[in-house]
Amino acid sequence: MGNNVKSYLEMREITKTYRTYDHAVVVALKGANLRVRKGTVHAVLGENGAGKTTLMEILAGVLKKDSGTIYFKGQKLEVENASQAFAQGIGMVHQRLSLIEDFTVAENIVLGIEPTNRLGIINLEQIEKKVSKFFQESGFALEASGIVNTLSIGQRQKVEIMRALYRGADLLILDEPTSALTEQEVQDLFRLINVFKKQGKTIIFITHKIEEVLDIADELTVLRKGRTIGEGQIKDFSKKEIIQMIMGEPISLRIERIPLRKGKILLSVRDLSVSSNGNLERVKNISFDLKEGEITAIAGVSGNGQKELVEAIFGLRLPATGKILVNSKDITNLLPRGRREMGISYIPEDRMNLGSSLKSSLMENVIVDKYYKPPFSERGWRQIDLCKKYAEKLVSNYNIKIPDVDCCVGTLSGGNIQRVIIARELTTDFTILIAQEPTMGLDLGSIKYVYNLLLEMRNEGKTILLLTSDMDEIINLSDRILVMYRGEIVANLDNNLKPITKEEIGEYMLGIKRQNHIELLG
Ligand SMILES: Nc1ncnc2c1ncn2[C@@H]1O[C@H](COP(=O)(O)OP(=O)(O)OP(=O)(O)O)[C@@H](O)[C@H]1O
Ligand SMILES: [Mg+2]
Repeated sequence: MGNNVKSYLEMREITKTYRTYDHAVVVALKGANLRVRKGTVHAVLGENGAGKTTLMEILAGVLKKDSGTIYFKGQKLEVENASQAFAQGIGMVHQRLSLIEDFTVAENIVLGIEPTNRLGIINLEQIEKKVSKFFQESGFALEASGIVNTLSIGQRQKVEIMRALYRGADLLILDEPTSALTEQEVQDLFRLINVFKKQGKTIIFITHKIEEVLDIADELTVLRKGRTIGEGQIKDFSKKEIIQMIMGEPISLRIERIPLRKGKILLSVRDLSVSSNGNLERVKNISFDLKEGEITAIAGVSGNGQKELVEAIFGLRLPATGKILVNSKDITNLLPRGRREMGISYIPEDRMNLGSSLKSSLMENVIVDKYYKPPFSERGWRQIDLCKKYAEKLVSNYNIKIPDVDCCVGTLSGGNIQRVIIARELTTDFTILIAQEPTMGLDLGSIKYVYNLLLEMRNEGKTILLLTSDMDEIINLSDRILVMYRGEIVANLDNNLKPITKEEIGEYMLGIKRQNHIELLG
């Protein structure tokens, strides 16, 4: 059979069943097929839980298939682990980031392949220089000496991508590498992908963003519920047809946002400065108000202080100077739990570390902020039945694909983990929501659902602070846009007065333009 294989890569009739710790059975792949030609960019598409990551991890040697055959470079591919796959020329950037938090960017890039001198000693200075040069040549703005735990998710994604490129591979699998990248960063990545392609290399690219598919991919394969339901050349499909194929129905992300009358101020930030890494001032003397019934977005190139600002508002970081007030009460010194009690809810960007406990069950994850309060706890007794019912309701409302609520969250697909966190945070009784990348990793149907929910909440009089790398999301959802540049707010734009354009925001984001003091008051 191997003789009639024309493709560079061919995966035939792949099946895979997972068994979870509580013996639930999940059939992830039911005979999936994938054919990829050499020197192309091939998009693997499908809704959350369709089996994309599973199929790619089988190819990369991370998972074992149950049955099926793989041909690669004209030969049957049998690999036992990731290093064997790598030896065959297959590299992968994983959806779940795997960097070592306390290491520098350079150390992470060379981890496992560190060059040593004759005595086996690693010269860190030399490594940093080499990695810096590699960054410069590839035109990717990253600091080799930065410690990973100070980086945003977008910056970490860049490190993961650069790590894979640094190691080199003939076939590079990118599993949702752009879910937290800005458009500019995505363009930088696409430039690199094109260079890679010109060298005759092949890329498999997973994304939920259709524009990216149209922009970079040559061919596509669509999975649904573990089966291949479509394949072909990108040029033969319209955007609408691709969406229809992935989701089984047409979906548009356009939403109707009618301006509301301005409500009272719920949260105020006054002269706030925040430092990180010793004395480096990341947020410089910022002031703004969040009002009832308003979605305020913070736009900015990653690393301009957004992360530090949000962490200070939620109490994960102490400000150097300034105040945060909720309903005129000073909360600057409250711990996060106290802030939650004041009505603040938070969807963190770093869901895997801050947002969820992957080793705990779904039920534990969704009641983590309420288990100690009635009705979930009565006179010190946890009301298990009630907790379970509550968790089951969230699973059904948010369409989370999980065998049962006792299953641990770590076994879910990337997008389904995101749904768990969104469900938990949006079901809490809050007046102020800080939403960081609320649609990261979600498929189009779920994005639409989250957009409608956020809008509903805003219409009920809640206030939402939105931080996202997705410019369309900002323009679509927000009433007001604050642009951050080098730790300062450089623009305060009313999106209801007249629709703001991407280009306009872009000029402020890059520091080309800046409003005067009167304009900044809004
Ligand atoms: N380790 C695991 N244990 C049990 N079930 C798993 C495990 N990993 C994945 N699954 C299940 O297999 C199915 C396919 O998951 P997979 O991660 O391949 O989906 P995906 O297409 O990558 O989705 P997403 O877009 O959300 O990343 C899902 O139902 C998921 O819950
Ligand atoms: Mg996945």
